[in-house]
Amino acid sequence: GLPIDPNAHPGVKIQSPISDYLATLVSQNSKDNPGANAAYIPELAAVNSDQIGACITTVDGYVYGAGATSVEFSIQSVSKPFVYALAIEEHGLDWVLKRVDVEPSGEAFNELSLDGEQLPKNPMINAGAMTTHSLIGEGKYSVDERFEHIRKGLSAFAGRDLGVDEGSYKSEIATAFRNFSIAYMLRNYGAIKGDPGDVVKGYTRQCAIRLTAEDLAQMGATLANGGKQPVTGVQVVSPETVRQVLSVMTTCGMYNEAGHWVCEVGFPGKSGVSGCVLGVLPGNLGMATFSPRLDVAGNSVRGVRMYKQIAKEMVLHMM
Ligand code: DON
Repeated sequence: GLPIDPNAHPGVKIQSPISDYLATLVSQNSKDNPGANAAYIPELAAVNSDQIGACITTVDGYVYGAGATSVEFSIQSVSKPFVYALAIEEHGLDWVLKRVDVEPSGEAFNELSLDGEQLPKNPMINAGAMTTHSLIGEGKYSVDERFEHIRKGLSAFAGRDLGVDEGSYKSEIATAFRNFSIAYMLRNYGAIKGDPGDVVKGYTRQCAIRLTAEDLAQMGATLANGGKQPVTGVQVVSPETVRQVLSVMTTCGMYNEAGHWVCEVGFPGKSGVSGCVLGVLPGNLGMATFSPRLDVAGNSVRGVRMYKQIAKEMVLHMM
C-alpha cells in the first residue's frame, strides 16, 4: 500500500510525496489524448477533453490529488455499484440475486445480456443497473422518492450533499431510445415490475448526479473501509454488502475490458462514460481519475492508463 503522510488530516487535500507522485502521473499521461468523448450523450460530447485529474483518499480519510480533481462531472455508470449496495441493504442479498445475476456478460454495457432465467447478467451493465434502480423502494416509492433515496445514499458515501446535472439528464433522456428499449424488454421478461419509462427516467437522473474526482475518491474510500465513511464516520452500508459490491466490480466493472483490467490493475474498478474511473483497494484506499476521452469499451483511455501505471509502480495489484 501507499505510505501514510504524517502531515495529513482527514478530508483535507494536502501536498505530499503522494500528491507529487500523482502530479507526475497526471503530467506523464497528459502528453497525448487518444479516444473520443461519449458521442451518444450530447452534453458529454461537448466537455473539454483536455481535462485530466487523479485523486486518492485513504481509509484514514487523507486526501491526495493532482490535476482536475475539483472539476464537476456526471457520475454515469459509476453510480451502479453504489445503488447496488443500497438495494442489498434494503432487501438483502438473496432477494436481490433473484432479480439481477452476477456473471460478467463479456458484451458491451448497453446490450440486453440476459442469463438463462431472463435476468440481467450483472448490475454493472445498463440492463442490470436499470433493474437494480427499480428495486429501490419497489412498490412503495414514487419516482421522486426513489431518486431522492439514491441521491441521499450516494451523498452519504461521498460525505457531502451531491446535486444533479439537470442539463446532462435532459441531454441524455432526449435520445435514450436504446435504454428505453432495454427497459421495455426487461419489463416483458418480468425483471422490472414497474413502469419501464419511469425506470429509465429515474436511472438516467441517477447517472446525472454531479460530483468531482475528490468526491468519487471519498466514495471509493468508504467501500475500501468496509462501508464506513472515513471522514464523517457514518457506517453507510455493511461490510458484507461491500464484499458483494467489490466482487461484482472486480468481475464486471470495466465491461468487456474487465479481464484485462483485473490482470493488469488487480483491484476492483468501475468506469463511467463521462470519463471517470473509480478504483478501490480494500482496506487501503479509494481512487478516482477523470479524463473524458473513452476507448471502444466506454472506459476512459488515460484513466485506465493511469491505473495500470500506479498499480505497477506502487505495487498495488492484490494478487
Ligand atoms: O445509461 C447510459 O448509457 C449512461 N447513462 C451510463 C453508461 C456508462 O457510464 C457506461 N460506462 N462506461
